Amino acid sequence: MSEHEVRLTVNGIERAVRVPARRLLSDCLRHDLGLTGTHVGCEHGVCGACTVLVDGAPMRSCLLFAVSVDGAEITTVEGCRAVDGGLGPVQQAFQDCHGLQCGFCTPGFVTTITAYLRDHPEPTEADAREAIGGNLCRCTGYQNIVASVLQAADIMRSER
Ligand code: FES
Ligand code: FES
Repeated sequence: MSEHEVRLTVNGIERAVRVPARRLLSDCLRHDLGLTGTHVGCEHGVCGACTVLVDGAPMRSCLLFAVSVDGAEITTVEGCRAVDGGLGPVQQAFQDCHGLQCGFCTPGFVTTITAYLRDHPEPTEADAREAIGGNLCRCTGYQNIVASVLQAADIMRSER
C-alpha cells in the first residue's frame, strides 16, 4: 500500500510521518506519534472522545484522514497543559470539580472546552451546557463537567 508523508505541528512540535492514505488522524496521533491521550470511543463521530484542535478548531479526529490535515497545527489533550508542564486550566478545573470518573471521555472534553473558553471567556451555566453538548460521558451525569467549565473560566480569567 502506498504511503504519504504528512507534516503536522502537534502541540507546537513539527512532526513528519509516513502513513497510508486512509490512516485516521486519531490513529496517526495515537499509533504513529505515540500521543495516546487522544481517546477513541465510537469511531463514528458521535462521542467526541477523539476531539482535537485543528488550527484551533475542535474536530473529531476519528472522522479525518491524516493526509487531509497535512500542514495543520494540531493540539491534543497533551498540549492543553500549562507552560510549566503542570495541569492546564481546564485540566485543573476537572480535578478541582471532580469532572471525571473513568476519564475515557475527558480528553475530548478538555480540548473542546479549551477552544470554547478561548472564544467565550465568561460563560453562563447554560452556555457551559451548550459548549459540551457534543461530547458524551457515561459516568458523571455531566453536572461536575458543567462545574468544571465554569471553574476553568474562573482560572483562565485569574491568569490574565
Ligand atoms: S471516537 Fe471520534 S467521535 Fe467518538
Ligand atoms: S468519566 Fe467515564 S465516560 Fe466520562
